[in-house]
Amino acid sequence: MQLPPFLLDQWLAAHEFASPPVQFNLASSTGPQWTLAEILALAPESARAQFERLPILYAPPAGTPELRARVAAFHDVDPDWVVVLTGASEGISALFSLAAEPGANLVLPFPVFPAMPVMARAWGVEVRSYQLSKDEGFAHRADSILAAVDDRTRLVLVNTPHNPTGAVIEPAELARLASALAEREIPFVVDEVYHPLYFRTPVPSAARLPGTRVLGDMSKALSLSGLRIGWLIEPDARRREQIVNARSYFSIASSPVSEALAVMALDAAPKILARLTSVATANLALFERFAQEHRHAIGWQKPGGGTVAFPWLVDGRDSRPFAIELAKSGVLVAPGDCFDAPSHFRVGFGAASSGFETALSRMSEVVRRLGL
Ligand SMILES: Cc1ncc(COP(=O)(O)O)c(C=O)c1O
Repeated sequence: MQLPPFLLDQWLAAHEFASPPVQFNLASSTGPQWTLAEILALAPESARAQFERLPILYAPPAGTPELRARVAAFHDVDPDWVVVLTGASEGISALFSLAAEPGANLVLPFPVFPAMPVMARAWGVEVRSYQLSKDEGFAHRADSILAAVDDRTRLVLVNTPHNPTGAVIEPAELARLASALAEREIPFVVDEVYHPLYFRTPVPSAARLPGTRVLGDMSKALSLSGLRIGWLIEPDARRREQIVNARSYFSIASSPVSEALAVMALDAAPKILARLTSVATANLALFERFAQEHRHAIGWQKPGGGTVAFPWLVDGRDSRPFAIELAKSGVLVAPGDCFDAPSHFRVGFGAASSGFETALSRMSEVVRRLGL
């Protein structure tokens, strides 16, 4: 089968990995950068010495016991429930492959991380969407999610904090949804890769809700996308076995080097999350001021969590020319057509530990120049 072009990653790769790279990257959805030396410096001397002696072999298919224990502590669950993956991306493919059967459908948000509907269709599964509408503040509504479900639904997915809108589902709404789906025995997945970055009240992980499995990773809130480590928390032993079996086919195992670094990073999670929170909070306040100043041209909904927002051009025009003009002036945002929502654009405010204000002043110039 032919996969459609992955517009988002093509746009990011063309600018992030250009030589020289774009000056201000506001398109990325990750946290601020950490170097290998900085991560090693967070670990005690004994852990560093052990790391140097690490055999570079396949890791166990479900992940090392050390990493599974850290992930379990991060979500307050039993370590047996944790399956380590090659990024949450591998979890999406593995879960959707298990949903595949003739006539099956799965239910996803719209807009959504673009790999999700493409991977579902690649496995021959029909995609049903529930809308996160800007006119409702991108709110997740359990009723509209349940309205998309029928007796052929094999999986329902909620992503909170959500990419690309930053919307966070209300915990009571999430619990109501989880119990309605558990009653109908429909597998429910909560993608929590931006957990625990929240701007209003802190929200507990969904991993202990009945009938709920959680996807997480080291890429987003934990800011270490290059480790390519993710995980699924699956309380049901039989389904866990199926996921481990699927990943044995997809990637065999993760790198033990990445798993060992993920252990060090999770042991130092408060420091990593503090850096993320300080960068994201400061940049979000700057963007809020920018959006207020440009409200005649740009609409937005302040995210409840995560590292991205999904503003829109109020006259409804396609944002790609705006994004191209911005890129020429050294500022990268992601055009909305990457998410099938052309009048929007995605701004990442978690990665830039400096220069965000300068980037926004260049954005102001482009808004003026294009007469938006
Ligand atoms: C909501 C969401 N889930 C999963 C992923 C996959 O990330 P990774 O494979 O780096 O864990 C992404 C990446 O952007 C994402 O935004």
